[in-house]
Amino acid sequence: MKKGLFITLEGGEGAGKSTQMAYVEECLKKAGKTVHVTREPGGTALSELIRGLLLDHRQTAMDADTELLLMFAARAQHLAELIRPALDAGQWVLCDRFTDATYAYQGGGRGIDIKRISALEDWVQGSLRPDLTLLLDLPIDVGMSRAGERGELDRFEREQQDFFERVRATYLKLAEQHPDRYRIVDASQDIPQVQAQIDAILAPVLEES
Ligand SMILES: Nc1ncnc2c1ncn2[C@@H]1O[C@H](COP(=O)(O)OP(=O)(O)OP(=O)(O)O)[C@@H](O)[C@H]1O
Ligand SMILES: [Mg+2]
Repeated sequence: MKKGLFITLEGGEGAGKSTQMAYVEECLKKAGKTVHVTREPGGTALSELIRGLLLDHRQTAMDADTELLLMFAARAQHLAELIRPALDAGQWVLCDRFTDATYAYQGGGRGIDIKRISALEDWVQGSLRPDLTLLLDLPIDVGMSRAGERGELDRFEREQQDFFERVRATYLKLAEQHPDRYRIVDASQDIPQVQAQIDAILAPVLEES
């Protein structure tokens, strides 16, 4: 049986992840793949409840460690209930954010020691890592003005500019550390141009699998 790939989309607020998830899904389906489209935090009923807590802007007292552990609690359930069974069945999984977002937001943004995050990553995921990660990279102000048009801001969207600068820098560092699976997309371009970049990245992947 051919192996299904685990593909993640990462990037800051308003980078176009949700927009391009739909496009990547379409590309994979056209290529005849069975694909599970999901997101983090969330992706299962229980994990979506945890997402609600994490994004709730009224949770102003949430400790950074509580936030980190809730992220991994949601992830453990997501892996057990959806991601692992799908990959084990040879199917593809396409996920809007995954553990790299934890490194970027809880590590870079909140300043939690990376070693603690990687210990949790090993514990919850074992050796499972994404096969391909598309990093939608763009300047913070461009992403924020796109995201800002959607109405009420969640708990993360209420952070300051320097928080998002650290998130972006952490993502770019992760891309440098994992060149095998990371592809950087210039997300400041218009939607058709971003899609053309995604096509160029997916073509060889789909040819091989
Ligand atoms: N390349 C683009 N150029 C201009 N506008 C875009 C582009 N991509 C997405 N948008 C628009 O920007 C807004 C944010 O996009 P989207 O929701 O896909 O971002 P996101 O990365 O999923 O954000 P979040 O991190 O908040 O989930 C949407 O209104 C979307 O239509
Ligand atoms: Mg989104």
